[in-house]
Amino acid sequence: MLPSMRLRLRAACAATAAVLLGAAAATGADAVQDFIRRHWSQPLTPQGSPPARFSPLEASLDPESCGTCHPAQFADWRESAHAAASGPGVAGQLVEMRESDPSSAHACLVCHAPLAEQGPFVAVGRELRENADYDPSLAGKGVPCAGCHLRGHERFGPPRRDGSLTSGTPRETLPHNGVTRTPAFLSAEFCRSCHQFTPDGFALNGKLLQATYDEWKASRFAREGVQCQDCHMPDRRHRWRGIHDADMVRSGLTITAKAGATRYRPGELALVTLRVSSTRIGHAFPTYVTPRVVLSAELVDTAGQVVAGSRREQVIGREVALDLSRELADTRLMPGKSATLTYRMKIDARGVRARVSVVVEPDAFYVAFFDTLLRQGAGRGEAQIRQALEAARRSPFTLFERELPLS
Ligand code: HEC
Ligand code: HEC
Ligand code: HEC
Ligand code: HEC
Ligand code: HEC
Repeated sequence: MLPSMRLRLRAACAATAAVLLGAAAATGADAVQDFIRRHWSQPLTPQGSPPARFSPLEASLDPESCGTCHPAQFADWRESAHAAASGPGVAGQLVEMRESDPSSAHACLVCHAPLAEQGPFVAVGRELRENADYDPSLAGKGVPCAGCHLRGHERFGPPRRDGSLTSGTPRETLPHNGVTRTPAFLSAEFCRSCHQFTPDGFALNGKLLQATYDEWKASRFAREGVQCQDCHMPDRRHRWRGIHDADMVRSGLTITAKAGATRYRPGELALVTLRVSSTRIGHAFPTYVTPRVVLSAELVDTAGQVVAGSRREQVIGREVALDLSRELADTRLMPGKSATLTYRMKIDARGVRARVSVVVEPDAFYVAFFDTLLRQGAGRGEAQIRQALEAARRSPFTLFERELPLS
């Protein structure tokens, strides 16, 4: 990876241009879209003072406090990517960036730690000033409950499961004055402001760096009314499983492996195909630039050893240069599409089998990025970047593996 050249690393994940923009403006007078535009008008404004009758527990923005009364959502959330969204990978980059490029550092928080109370600075015009509402104990809490559910200490949430919007009990008698219920929580647009760059955002090869919502919108899932929540929050669970979870990834794919024949004689050319089809993923597989999925095939002899020189690989992913200067390849699968590894190999001995596999590297880009960053010097972010690198190195898993007899 260009070891001798000092790369000018751009903050991974988003360039300044993309970052500075607020929520994508929804068009149309539709009440749901209108609600979402207001709810996600970024940056979020401070919650202000809580109603006088709130107990300290009801007034708290800390997810642990919500968890006292909502233990199921808290247990799911704390293990989710949203809870980790201002973890070492992000925080480690921000330490130095706050000095070198404070406005970009500040802009990352819009998606990674969205509450006004989570950032040390506020933007006043082009200037950054100290944030009087800053609560350091919330800074590392990623996308907390309050980021999605609270505005001005008012609770917002989905309709009841029976579809109703009102509660029988007077709101002022309920904890935190009850909830304002809106179907906006059930729609894909609710997720859009963080999972889709605006049209003028950072693009490579004419394609935005992040376009999950647009990919969904163009898919059959949008036409059939299947929202992000239907796949990522089934039964209203707060797990948001994605590319890091083997079962989740399997749920979206159909994988088949076949040999042209079960018996080849030595000297013959064997044919094996490995096909990965995106059958239940509501966007590109994978949607982001950082994962890599490797399809492979190789011959294994009777002793279980890989036959030298027999391995072939094919990658599914959008590979970009580490400094985000260009796109190297885009082989992602749009919904409904397939990738096929066609493997032809001469059989030299009896008893060989073909081993095919699909391996997912959820953080492939970050392994290289963090590694380079450390070699260039991550400054005061070093310990955190090292931790993020270790986590990224641990994340690959084998999604599928099969051995096919060939002779
Ligand atoms: C003291 C206990 C308590 C605390 C603390 C609390 N809640 Fe609640 N919450 C409740 C109760 C009880 C209800 C049910 C109200 C109703 O029936 O409408 C509720 C309802 C909700 C709902 C609607 C749930 C539904 O059934 O659709 C949401 C969303 C919600 N709370 C979010 C939060 C968040 C976010 C926090 C933390 C910032 C929080 N709550 C803190 C007790 C609490
Ligand atoms: C528009 C919202 C948005 C902005 C702004 C944004 N990110 Fe992200 N970031 C995301 C999303 C969404 C993901 C997860 C991507 C995925 O898997 O599709 C992510 C993933 C990441 C990750 C990998 C996960 C981790 O925790 O290690 C890092 C690191 C990261 N972003 C850093 C940054 C930095 C640094 C900035 C500011 C320069 C930034 N991001 C700005 C939305 C954003
Ligand atoms: C990324 C945004 C987001 C975050 C963070 C988040 N929620 Fe939610 N929450 C939602 C959405 C969206 C729904 C509705 C999901 C659906 O109905 O498909 C929901 C639903 C709920 C409900 C109603 C559940 C039901 O069974 O009716 C409660 C209660 C709730 N959330 C509490 C919490 C608590 C507590 C936390 C933090 C521990 C939290 N949420 C974090 C977006 C979020
Ligand atoms: C306030 C911004 C924000 C909102 C709103 C938001 N997300 Fe996220 N989401 C993020 C960030 C940032 C990450 C990356 C976290 C990390 O790994 O550091 C993420 C990660 C995820 C992941 C896990 C990706 C992986 O690597 O496996 C899924 C799935 C996801 N979000 C789905 C949703 C859905 C569905 C909604 C709407 C209900 C939603 N998000 C709303 C910011 C947001
Ligand atoms: C039909 C089901 C389905 C729908 C709809 C869907 N997803 Fe996914 N999503 C998946 C599956 C399965 C995965 C795991 C495979 C993968 O990573 O693509 C996934 C992965 C992800 C990831 C992990 C990162 C990555 O690079 O793949 C994010 C982030 C995400 N989804 C966000 C969203 C958002 C936001 C929406 C709505 C705009 C959405 N998803 C709609 C099924 C769905």
